[in-house]
Amino acid sequence: MRADRLESLVTFHPFTRLNKLLEGIAPGGGNTPLLLQLGEPQFAPPAFVAEEIAKAAAGWSKYPPTAGNEAFRNAVKAWLERRYHLPATMLNPDKEILPVSGTREALFQIALSAVAAGEPRGKTKVLMGNPFYHSYAGAAAVAGGEPAFLPADRNSNFLPDISRITAAALDQAALVYLCSPANPQGAVAPLDYLKQWLELARKHDFVLAADECYAEIYPDAPPPGALEAARELGGAVDHLLVFHSLSKRSSAPGLRSGFIAGDAKLIARQAQLVNYGGVAMPLPILAAATRLWQDEAHVAENRARYRRSFEIAQEILGPIFGEVRPQGGFFLWLDVGDGERTAVELWKQAAVKVLPGGYMARAEADGKNPGARYIRVAVILEPDEMAAALRRMAPVLEGLVHGKSAKAAAGGR
Ligand SMILES: Cc1ncc(COP(=O)(O)O)c(C=O)c1O
Repeated sequence: MRADRLESLVTFHPFTRLNKLLEGIAPGGGNTPLLLQLGEPQFAPPAFVAEEIAKAAAGWSKYPPTAGNEAFRNAVKAWLERRYHLPATMLNPDKEILPVSGTREALFQIALSAVAAGEPRGKTKVLMGNPFYHSYAGAAAVAGGEPAFLPADRNSNFLPDISRITAAALDQAALVYLCSPANPQGAVAPLDYLKQWLELARKHDFVLAADECYAEIYPDAPPPGALEAARELGGAVDHLLVFHSLSKRSSAPGLRSGFIAGDAKLIARQAQLVNYGGVAMPLPILAAATRLWQDEAHVAENRARYRRSFEIAQEILGPIFGEVRPQGGFFLWLDVGDGERTAVELWKQAAVKVLPGGYMARAEADGKNPGARYIRVAVILEPDEMAAALRRMAPVLEGLVHGKSAKAAAGGR
């Protein structure tokens, strides 16, 4: 049983699968390869990051405290209050905010503790939308939980469809992962929808893990967050953890820096996991992170960059796909008919690497993988570089989607 669980980590790891798919295929078209398969923004974080790290260099000789420090927790609390219009009395920074060394680690660990806590009461299910960020299913498998994949397709605006979940499944749930803006589809959960989930978490006693790492990347209005849902429901944060990261907001995935906020009992539990087998945030990183959460200028600049890139994407890909701009986040989620074949052809003909959508989803009851028709393209280059990449991709996509040869689709150029 355990071996199967570990095996599933290899079988379903999206990037391992992609490497295998493209193994032995030369990137073609005489082009320099462009890597758009990974959500790794290629923009420089603000210069003050390096300055703060240098200033706090004495911290390299210390084991950092799991809870971080007061300056960090207060910066996060102030940011959450500004971003989500929370009253100052809502969050206790000492008990309800914890730094995490990247949210991937924390999202993984929450399954370990939630399933362990739920098991004696028969609560071992870990629910997630389908498609989903791969870490959720890996965590469920390693935790000994039972992953359950909720349809999240066009019919439910690409959000997990609450109407299709039984009360029995919710009673057996230890944990529900909810991602908004969603990776990969870019769907934004409305406030009422978030409230519904939080009410369900309380009624059926499961942990609601709201993964909001794309919360700062949006075209117009800021996406609502689960802490706003908690505020609307009276201000308590029991059963809820929100996950925020500097990887996307500040284009600093190498910093490995984020935080979780919410239920004090769950925060304490998570801190214990870090004490045993996790990574507390190094003090120089904590100093840089504190400054980043206090600064909005670089985030606004990033947003403008994404807005420009998505306008370009719309100009270039609109004639093939119609509307391609997501509600939030930085992925294009394109219905190409056959995601694997398209990923191979884009690599072979245009030297552009993208992720087949099926690698982020599992087959549902009807045996169909809801991601199989799609590719996910990470819009993570500067707008002019992104324009060049998309122009390279368009004729190949046109050919595959509308059955034209790439040469004809490019106007014979
Ligand atoms: C949906 C989602 N959640 C969490 C993460 C992890 O981010 P990090 O560990 O860099 O904070 C990612 C990274 O791609 C993601 O796409």
